[in-house]
Amino acid sequence: EKAYSPYSDYKVGAALLCKDGSVYTGCNVENASFSVTNCAERTAFFKAVSEGEMEFEKIAVVGGNAEDKAPVDYCSPCGVCRQVMAEFCQPDFKIILSGGELHQIYTLSDLLPLSFDQSNLN
Ligand code: THU
Repeated sequence: EKAYSPYSDYKVGAALLCKDGSVYTGCNVENASFSVTNCAERTAFFKAVSEGEMEFEKIAVVGGNAEDKAPVDYCSPCGVCRQVMAEFCQPDFKIILSGGELHQIYTLSDLLPLSFDQSNLN
């Protein structure tokens, strides 16, 4: 509901559950310079990390067009958000795509196989 998406009219919300039980939510925040846009998932992660959270259990994502009664889509995290998840989460981190009544559940390794991460730099 708080998404700032005047350009796409596509609202996304994410709820990130940390291992200590706390939940950080995020929405997409767009910008006239499109590449500056921040996705809901990254908003949630960056809020959490900036508060000192480093251990994450799962994330739920919901998205759809801004019309009040429009059906929700399965909003699959973009590649940049997947890469951010790979920075902070284990391969079995769960990603729940919420379609309202129905959900699809994946792991991070389902959505980002063969990821480039910290281990590549050691
Ligand atoms: N968006 C997200 O917030 N999360 C995703 O996983 C995919 C896309 C946002 C970015 C932009 O504000 C709008 O959806 C359309 O791409």
